[in-house]
Amino acid sequence: MESQNAQRRLGNIYGHLTTEETSQCPASNSNKCPAMNPGKCPASNSDKCPAINSGKCPVMFTSQAKMWPRLTQGEPIRVCVTGAAGNIAYSLIFMIASGHMFGPKQRVALHLLDIPPMEKVLKGVEMEILDCAFPLVSGVICTSEPKVAFMNVDVAILVGAFPRQKGMERKDLLKKNAEIFKAQGKAMNDYASRNVKVLVVGNPANTNCLIAMNCAPDLPKSNFSALTRLDHNRAKAQIAQNLKVPLDTVHNVVIWGNHSATQYPDISYGYVGNHPHIRTPIRSAVNNDQWLQNEFIATVQQRGAEIIKARNSSSAASAAWAVVNHMRDWLLGTPEGEIVSMAVCSDGSYDIPAGLIFSFPVTCRNGEWTMVKGLKVTEFSRKKLDLTTQELQEEKQDAFSFLGI
Ligand code: NAD
Ligand code: LMR
Repeated sequence: MESQNAQRRLGNIYGHLTTEETSQCPASNSNKCPAMNPGKCPASNSDKCPAINSGKCPVMFTSQAKMWPRLTQGEPIRVCVTGAAGNIAYSLIFMIASGHMFGPKQRVALHLLDIPPMEKVLKGVEMEILDCAFPLVSGVICTSEPKVAFMNVDVAILVGAFPRQKGMERKDLLKKNAEIFKAQGKAMNDYASRNVKVLVVGNPANTNCLIAMNCAPDLPKSNFSALTRLDHNRAKAQIAQNLKVPLDTVHNVVIWGNHSATQYPDISYGYVGNHPHIRTPIRSAVNNDQWLQNEFIATVQQRGAEIIKARNSSSAASAAWAVVNHMRDWLLGTPEGEIVSMAVCSDGSYDIPAGLIFSFPVTCRNGEWTMVKGLKVTEFSRKKLDLTTQELQEEKQDAFSFLGI
């Protein structure tokens, strides 16, 4: 009995893909597997697939079926990162693997997706993950096959896309990226956990998210989100810098709308100060409406473009950190009274057309976000909300016409 238990434990320790998962090996069930007769894979019920272990599987780049010892307890969270050989991922993956996203005790299994030409680079990323000897990483899958990447994942972070280049507007990227997010939405619909939390980072993020959500009709719409936390962090940082106060004393800024130059960074509900009885509204603390209504807004709206000009490529470390903030708050909760910004599916609140992916003020508890409703919208704010709504509606129209949906 004891030895059976020990065996089971050993199985658990060294098991990476479960029997259920390996029996669904997409290569073995198709003519893509070089080692097997389609549909007759003798290894698909074990972790002994010779194609995978010899590095010859065309679907999985590496010997990901080899198990890494699990040093911590409990089931890992399966996290898919797409664009895994790219710039943002090169920061993000290591933040996830070191526990910044899900906490210092939560193990993670990393499903890394990129396109076939990036196989070698992704292999290098995998080697570096191994070399970090992260205690929380229970396994790594590197693949170019969306089916494999999204199989049973709990969290999907869709970074992979063509990045905006100098002089390009995010809209220009729409056509290039629509097909990617359509295919990935479908793959998540078919293979991901039924409760997968999706965060779209690749631009144009709101509309890419809209496409993925609409191509995944079996998943809850509330599980789809796009990243505006970077804009939220940028807005907080601008206020802190203006007031020369510590970052953690600035609270409840809001980003409304699109992750683009029409976004509306709004300080109307924000305050400065950490003591419950000593809070100053940001507007009074700054005491310069001219700056707040012009330079502040433009700086946050144009920050991405400024960084591209300076670095010749788009923001990467700050984007990765914002992804960590977004996902950690979504899954583990926001501090009491703290508002954050997430682009999520509109329910018609604030007169934003239902179904658009729009950045709203939210709080998070028990793995769910809740929109903060009933905030007063001034005439100035209304104009800004309408402008960004109009842009999102145009993007939606373009995207749906490219895709014929
Ligand atoms: P990058 O070019 O360095 O990396 C993108 C990666 O995606 C590449 O490795 C590429 O091969 C891969 N890729 C392309 N098509 C793919 C597909 N179909 N499946 C899987 N992978 C695919 O770009 P980056 O700097 O990492 O930026 C990624 C995206 O994030 C860009 O669209 C960028 O504009 C956007 N971005 C968004 C925010 C935000 O706040 N929402 C911030 C910064 C950057
Ligand atoms: C950013 O905001 O830094 C990114 O979205 C890059 C961009 O295109 O602005």
